[in-house]
Amino acid sequence: TNDGLVDQYGRTAVDLRVSLTDKCNLRCTYCMPAEGLEWLAGPDLLTDDEIVRLIDVGVTRLGIRDVRFTGGEPLIRRGLLPIVAATAALRPRPSISITTNGLGLAKLASPLAAAGLDRVNVSLDTLRPARFERLTRRDRHRDVIAGLAAAADAGLVPVKINAVLLRGVNDDEAVPLLRFALTHGYEMRFIEQMPLDAGHTWNRNAMVRAEEILAALGVEFTLTPDPGHRGAAPAEIWLVDGYDGASVGIIGSVTRPFCGDCDRTRLTADGQIRSCLFSQDESDLRGALRGGCDDAEIARRWRVAMAGKLPGHAINDRLFLQPARPMSAIGG
Ligand code: GTP
Ligand code: 5AD
Ligand code: SF4
Repeated sequence: TNDGLVDQYGRTAVDLRVSLTDKCNLRCTYCMPAEGLEWLAGPDLLTDDEIVRLIDVGVTRLGIRDVRFTGGEPLIRRGLLPIVAATAALRPRPSISITTNGLGLAKLASPLAAAGLDRVNVSLDTLRPARFERLTRRDRHRDVIAGLAAAADAGLVPVKINAVLLRGVNDDEAVPLLRFALTHGYEMRFIEQMPLDAGHTWNRNAMVRAEEILAALGVEFTLTPDPGHRGAAPAEIWLVDGYDGASVGIIGSVTRPFCGDCDRTRLTADGQIRSCLFSQDESDLRGALRGGCDDAEIARRWRVAMAGKLPGHAINDRLFLQPARPMSAIGG
């Protein structure tokens, strides 16, 4: 409908990514420094009710069909279960998913499923506990493994694993990670690193390219492109021959951009709408909410925010400028 979140390039956003907090209980080296970041101040964060109100406006007035909770680390938000339950009560009911680092998921998987969560994506960059500790600066590898199993047990399927491969760090693990995922029935996805880290240290040569990942997997597996419809999904799906329809995804944001099919709109934990991960500007819905705007006016402002969505991320442009906020504050 023309009441949706349409931009001037003909894209319609139906997928809302909601960051529930900018905080995290890991310190992945490619994301944030050991000491953490300057977190958002409490009063600046949307309350649970404010978050639900905005999701409600998105679903009932703007055509949002899919809601994904991200962070920082979304599982550390205290109101998570009631927020999920309230989202599941909306009509038409959106699909509800979470992207998490897996800490605490062993405990939360089944209450989350009961609250209405449909599925989870879990970040796991290495199968080696010592390497995990170096990469995340926390000794929590076992928690993630347990979280994955609990998610599958709770029916939060398909359980997807996200791995960012980093040259010289974990780029020897493409095959072991896929093998692990195939063994346990998880869906493995490999992600090209994007320039979104807090330290602005991203460098194109350190990024492991989609090509390279496919070549590494090709040594052990035969992959054929999934004939299914990709739609707006960031992941290119490949079927793994001999594994009964199992697949692996490659998210090549940098070398194989998919911005032309993007269907996303983002809400930060402090109530700002971003039309893209890489937007330079944000639209303040928190101010609108707290200033007393009604739902129609909030919807109108949200539409305006999305109408200005840029055609793409421009990472490959000579004059590319990384956004001021890091990924952990935007929501991945
Ligand atoms: P599915 O619905 O399961 O396909 O989830 P997803 O892959 O869209 O989301 P997830 O949170 O698991 O993100 C996986 C990777 O894709 C992360 O590195 C995200 O930062 C990246 N990603 C998510 N949305 C976008 C986007 O709009 N643009 C780009 N370039 N990358 C994105
Ligand atoms: N580029 C790509 N993916 C990233 N992630 C974190 N930082 C980056 C980045 N700079 C991944 C996390 C997680 C997902 C939400 O995004 O590892 O799997
Ligand atoms: Fe936390 Fe995700 Fe950043 Fe790692 S990548 S520190 S899990 S927000």
